Amino acid sequence: MKQTLHVDIQDYDIEISDDRIENLKDKIDFLTTGKKRLFVISRKVYKLYGKLLNLPEDEIFILPDGEKEKNIKNYLKIQEKAFESGLTRKDVMIAIGGGVVGDITGFAASTYMRGIDYIQIPTTLLSMVDSSVGGKTAIDIEGAKNIIGSFWQPKVVLININFLKTLDKKQFLSGIGEILKYSFIEKSCEYEKPIFLSEYLTLCCEKLFEFDSVTLMRVIDYCLKLKISVVNKDEKESGLRRVLNFGHTFGHALESITNFKKFTHGEAVVQGIFIALSLAYKTDLINYAYYRLSAELLESYGFKSINITKYDCDKLTEIMKHDKKAQSDKILFMLPCGKKSVKAVKFSSEEVKDFLVQTPHITPV
Ligand code: GLY
Repeated sequence: MKQTLHVDIQDYDIEISDDRIENLKDKIDFLTTGKKRLFVISRKVYKLYGKLLNLPEDEIFILPDGEKEKNIKNYLKIQEKAFESGLTRKDVMIAIGGGVVGDITGFAASTYMRGIDYIQIPTTLLSMVDSSVGGKTAIDIEGAKNIIGSFWQPKVVLININFLKTLDKKQFLSGIGEILKYSFIEKSCEYEKPIFLSEYLTLCCEKLFEFDSVTLMRVIDYCLKLKISVVNKDEKESGLRRVLNFGHTFGHALESITNFKKFTHGEAVVQGIFIALSLAYKTDLINYAYYRLSAELLESYGFKSINITKYDCDKLTEIMKHDKKAQSDKILFMLPCGKKSVKAVKFSSEEVKDFLVQTPHITPV
């Protein structure tokens, strides 16, 4: 099975397939005919799939796994390897791995000799439904994620769901967190017709966890249709693209206060969605029925809202204040404002802190 989506800006394709991983090599060779290549591949993925991928050893840079590897040192090592291998402006980098590999390779490609092509081959559910598409590339600095980066679209994205067979449950759930996010923002993504993602997710939970290929490919296809619709209209995040940050204001703060160790990105985003739902309910943007229905969808996938008063709410608020998306001294949240729609709402730090310490427990009306 194979389906292809198209991104209008920079004109590139996204292929979603369940083809044999062994066949990827021919596909890449065909796409890169006559070019020098540098493959940046996650160490874990290389251990699991190196033999099947059968890539030439001298064209490979192996990146250790983990967010801490998305740093300036590894960025420089990739650039040096590209230079030593003789890559020129007409050549290509290829990222094979999760979001860390995709982000650092994309940034390296966007700056090598003032910008060369790159191909995204995402191997985690999270990177398949989010970071491999849309051209956000970045590396981290000490204590802050994605501070140095660029918008640089890939030449092509090759998604093969067979990589997910070896993904651990926690990482799979992280991807599910981002997928659930799309169901809350469907209308705001302004896709040409309804996709009914939340309805589909309500029905397909069991099949997703059973790794049913048709269901997985359909869910990835739905999420990417929504993301592409947004990115085509607002590549550089001057407005509409902010809808993709639903759940992320609090989610990022939670990841940061727990040193990126306790929660995966998707788990933190889901906690951000719980917070956004309560904040929207408390400010009368949504009614209790929508609040409850939404919480139930998250709960049906095994997510539970945590007690945030366990964490230092002053510090959480401080982190949100310094978020890249914050404006002046206000904290910007994307909040649900009706079925499948979200809007940007600004709060003062005091308002946010008060809300957090009161714990957003919601009792039926
Ligand atoms: N991950 C959000 C975006 O690509 O804008």
